[in-house]
Amino acid sequence: MRSESTDVLIIGSGVAGLSAALAAAPARVTVLTKTAFGAGNSTWAQGGLAAAVGSDDSPEQHAGDTVSVGVGLNNEEAVRVLTVEGADRARQLIDLGTAFDRDSDGALLLAREAAHSVRRILHAADATGAEIVRTLRAAALANKAITVEERAFVLDLVVVSGQVVGAIAKRADGAMVFHQAGAVILATGGSGQLYASTTNPAEATADGLALAARAGAILRDLEFVQFHPTALAAPGVDPMPLVTEALRGEGSILVDEHGHRFAFDHHVDGELAPRDVVARAIARHRISGHLTFLDTRQAVGDRFPSRFPTVFASCQRYGIDPRRDLIPVSPAAHYHMGGVASDIDGRSSVVGLWTCGEVSATGVHGANRLASNSLLEGLVIGARAGADAASEGAGHAHSPSGVPEPGERRDIVADLRRTMWENVGLSRDAAGLSSAIERLDGLRGQGLLPEAANLLLVARMISRAAYLRQESRGAHYRSDFPDTEPAWARHMDVHLEGDAIVSETQETVA
Ligand code: SIN
Repeated sequence: MRSESTDVLIIGSGVAGLSAALAAAPARVTVLTKTAFGAGNSTWAQGGLAAAVGSDDSPEQHAGDTVSVGVGLNNEEAVRVLTVEGADRARQLIDLGTAFDRDSDGALLLAREAAHSVRRILHAADATGAEIVRTLRAAALANKAITVEERAFVLDLVVVSGQVVGAIAKRADGAMVFHQAGAVILATGGSGQLYASTTNPAEATADGLALAARAGAILRDLEFVQFHPTALAAPGVDPMPLVTEALRGEGSILVDEHGHRFAFDHHVDGELAPRDVVARAIARHRISGHLTFLDTRQAVGDRFPSRFPTVFASCQRYGIDPRRDLIPVSPAAHYHMGGVASDIDGRSSVVGLWTCGEVSATGVHGANRLASNSLLEGLVIGARAGADAASEGAGHAHSPSGVPEPGERRDIVADLRRTMWENVGLSRDAAGLSSAIERLDGLRGQGLLPEAANLLLVARMISRAAYLRQESRGAHYRSDFPDTEPAWARHMDVHLEGDAIVSETQETVA
């Protein structure tokens, strides 16, 4: 097998991976991405970047809102770093050329989203992720220390004497390459493809979580999966186009087929209640036989095409004109708060392995994520992980101990996604979770395609964690344990021992 060497190997090229690469340079950096460079979930992010840059705002207030939706599972030091450094990173992005929307006097326009106490969302129409990725990608391409390899799928990390020393990747032409590295950073993004209904692109297949687990890393709080309340509910569409929360921030309302504004039946903040509350309100209303729509006609009206061009284009594809029509919406899997347990410099529990962005669990989100804190996390923790990994990235000579067999033909993904949606979704109970565990365990076997194997491992881990957490907290709702229990203000850690999934609860760190 061919072998290449670098100081810092970064797997993934969204906002977190790009931020890590820029911070790690001038160390030699190689970025592997299974997609085109810069593609993925970050590019699809609509609403924006939360950062305390407004005159009526402060990092402390942003931190307060973040912790409030995280329901006791945030690491407060990580939240402090996120909100303080986040405001600085937002200003650096502007210096790099990110074109956030401004008013006619040139002042930044800040949007409101659910559970934010002030307007603090920087945005570029409703294509904010794409605009940030555009800026970071251009900077990375201009940086001679950064080498990019597109369409290279990482099959496994290579671990020697308990230390991650590189990764084995399959190139587009089928060649296998051992990328030897002084430090490896996982920035592989999310796992929305675990669910039959998701806003995430096809590449969001939980690869980083599976790679880290097989390398021996501890994964944390996997049961916390965020469902976005409003995905465009057109029949048979997969993935489901996101209908950004910023529309509700602008005053759009949720109604049923009778025009009843049902969100206030569930929470005093109505459409701007925390995301899990609104998502469950919509799901419940649908289960009780209603249709659910977002009505943007009054709040946005004729401004729709210019202010929300991405959502407008999605609506038009399905014959909906949101200036005149109601938008049919339903919840969909959107973001994973759980991830590889990592500190605020992205260090995982395995020597040589760092993580950043959605794949990591640094404690910034806790049991639920505040809207638009994810691009921010990618920027802040990405940069910290890149800098920290580069400081240790002098390569050592190692050889891979074995080459993983790329899987063959067997595809179990549709079955897995249905099982997760039905039993490990917005509302869970012991019977559904047990049946999911049994069903998913039964899907194991030889010959799985690599992404299917990754999805299956992570699905098995999430369903066990969800089964074990016998309470409701943030995005994890158990209909058989509907209350939040103080005794459960603990993390759930899982790791692999052979093929067995081992779990343990851990104290939270204030
Ligand atoms: C949205 O635009 O509604 C998504 C923002 C987010 O998930 O943070």
